[in-house]
Amino acid sequence: SAVAASMAIGASASDELIKVGYAQVGHESDWRTANTQNYQDVFSEENGYELSFVDCDNDNAAQIEAVRNFINQELDYIVIAPIQSAGWDTVLQEAQDAGIPVIIADREIEASEDLYDAWVGTNTTNEGITAGNWLAEYMDGKEANILVIEGSVGASAALGRTDGFNQVAADHDEWTILDSQSGDFTQDGGQEVMESFIKSYEGKFNVVVCQNDNEAYGAMDAMDAAGITYGVDGDVTLISFDATHDGLQYTLDGKINCDVECNPIQAEVVAGVIQKMEAGEDYDKTTLVEDSAFVAPGIESEYATTMTEDILAGRAY
Ligand code: AHR
Repeated sequence: SAVAASMAIGASASDELIKVGYAQVGHESDWRTANTQNYQDVFSEENGYELSFVDCDNDNAAQIEAVRNFINQELDYIVIAPIQSAGWDTVLQEAQDAGIPVIIADREIEASEDLYDAWVGTNTTNEGITAGNWLAEYMDGKEANILVIEGSVGASAALGRTDGFNQVAADHDEWTILDSQSGDFTQDGGQEVMESFIKSYEGKFNVVVCQNDNEAYGAMDAMDAAGITYGVDGDVTLISFDATHDGLQYTLDGKINCDVECNPIQAEVVAGVIQKMEAGEDYDKTTLVEDSAFVAPGIESEYATTMTEDILAGRAY
């Protein structure tokens, strides 16, 4: 019958779609929202994919569970943006035993390279080094008393940025890192940490490093409330990471001095790896998504591009 025929067509059409599971970190930041949108755009039915998307809400156990469900559902590929860098061996072994290729995306993991098929992401240690190098250039030998609002505890994006920045700080006797606390990559977290920093260190700090833009928005709110000025005309030099649209707007406005980019647009690269796997072609085990950095108007830097209206207009996320 016509109904049976159309069901058969429907079934075969969906059989041809490549089934991809994406275990996403959560929705903690504007960066994350842009990354999710990018996956939904690229892994569309139109492009030949059936995407199973799980927002793991920054819960490590939920993320492991999501991957296990993908294995049980016998998906064709599993993509994981790991919340934590540790603790992946068991479930990755399960995916391997089931013969399902795994691509680690965005952040890094500590597991042996044999346990996953490919990695696509940014070099967050380099992002931290860029922030440190820029600060050294900007301070030009002046004393820096630094407060750091870190990202989520155990996340490679936080570990890498901390490590990279600290590598540069180690070469500067005139720098003191007064304190370093996690703001969990959220605006609320950034605000809370900054409020408590202000209680402990008011009048003692002149640099605040926020490991993502949303934390910087929270830190700015806390400094505004306390009457502390920041940015190119303020008392506090503010560094952020991500360089999302709003972060760059604040940079253009001179409120954030330097915003180090972390590029969330990674799904095309992941899809490229999957297409090569499908075709049985060689693919790169690791693909680095390049980042740059931006500084407020009036600042010239060897390490970053000075913000303009045009750069902001070209930033969709
Ligand atoms: O892993 C990338 C980081 O995670 C981004 O810097 C941050 O905004 C996100 O939450």
